Amino acid sequence: MKTAATHAPFEARKDGFTISTDPARLDRDLVFRFLHEESYWSAGITRSFFERALDAGVNFGLYEPGGAQIGFARVATDFATLAHLADVFVLPGHRGQGLGRWLVATVLAHPRLQGLRRWTLTTDDAHALYSEFGFVAADPATQMQRLDADAHKREV
Ligand SMILES: CC(C)(COP(=O)(O)OP(=O)(O)OC[C@H]1O[C@@H](n2cnc3c(N)ncnc32)[C@H](O)[C@@H]1OP(=O)(O)O)[C@@H](O)C(=O)NCCC(=O)NCCS
Repeated sequence: MKTAATHAPFEARKDGFTISTDPARLDRDLVFRFLHEESYWSAGITRSFFERALDAGVNFGLYEPGGAQIGFARVATDFATLAHLADVFVLPGHRGQGLGRWLVATVLAHPRLQGLRRWTLTTDDAHALYSEFGFVAADPATQMQRLDADAHKREV
């Protein structure tokens, strides 16, 4: 059986920019640095925790025309019942020109991520962006979670 990593990479192009799931293109050091130092949700994440998440995910790199990576998004999924969208970012110098919106649209267009029952995500402040793609607030009467908020900072 093919795993997420062995399927042919999915790619989208626009105005010289590329979004690709090709693991060989991914700048893991850049993604780690952003999550560890600049994200509000994964500040202090350990390298081993980060690698564990990426190894099991469908990872989307966003690349500028020169080829350097300038953004990222990750999906944790079983390809049927659920998918969780996480770690979405565009580097500061490239924000505000539609790349984040295009990145989310491209994630949702991935051929293996069609027909899923439920997409989830968590966000502190980007609700407006995701609501454009049909995301709505989860129902507190039916949704539960078990959260260890600092798990990403601990070595296992
Ligand atoms: C969120 C992020 C990926 C958007 O990337 P971007 O390339 O700037 O987004 P776009 O230019 O495509 O703009 C998308 C829309 O979402 C809005 N938006 C972007 N970030 C937002 C935020 N944090 N809160 C509210 N709205 C936001 C923009 O205003 C824009 O709407 P508009 O065109 O009506 O003005 C980028 O701001 C980022 O990396 N932020 C830091 C990391 C982060 O917060 N990630 C989201 C975690 S859930």
